[in-house]
Amino acid sequence: MLVDKSPGPVGVPSMLTVGEVARRSGVAVSALHFYEAKGLIGSERSVGNQRRYPRAVLRRVSFIRVAQRVGISLSDIAAALAGLPVTAAPGREDWAHLSAAWRADLDGRIAQLKKLRDTLDDCIGCGCLSIDRCRLRNPGDKLAAEGTGPRRLLVKPLVAGAHPAREKPAKR
Ligand code: FES
Repeated sequence: MLVDKSPGPVGVPSMLTVGEVARRSGVAVSALHFYEAKGLIGSERSVGNQRRYPRAVLRRVSFIRVAQRVGISLSDIAAALAGLPVTAAPGREDWAHLSAAWRADLDGRIAQLKKLRDTLDDCIGCGCLSIDRCRLRNPGDKLAAEGTGPRRLLVKPLVAGAHPAREKPAKR
C-alpha cells in the first residue's frame, strides 16, 4: 500500500515511522512491535515495506501505557480497544463509550487504592493481630467470621458480574 506522507490538516505528518511513534509516546520500539503483534495497534506499509502508523496511534499507545501503569491487564485493554472502530481513527464519542464502560471498574480501583493508602498504618483485619491497633479493631480475630483476607481493607466490587471492559460495542 502506498503511504501518504503529506502533512495532515494541522501541519504535522499524518503518518509516522515506528521511531517517531516511540519518540513521541515514550514507548520503546520493541513494545510497539509487541502491541502490534497483539493486535492493539495497527500499521500500514510504505513503498519500501517499512511500517507506517497513522498519527491517531499515539492516542491508542498513550491509553495502553497509562492503563497498564494503573494495573489494568493487557487483555482487558485489548478488549476495550477492540470496541473502537478499525477502519478509521476513533472519534471522541468512541472514546466516550470506552470511558463509560470502564467508569465503574476505575471507580472501584480508585476506592480500593484510597482504602489501601488510608489504612497502611492501621489494622487491616487480616488475622495477624500483630500491631497494637488489632486489639481494638479486630479483637481475638473476630473479623474471621466475616470471611477470608484483610476484612478492613477490602472494598466491595461496585459492579457484580462481567468486567465492563469486556462489553464491546458494535464495530463501525
Ligand atoms: S493488622 Fe492483621 S489483624 Fe490487625
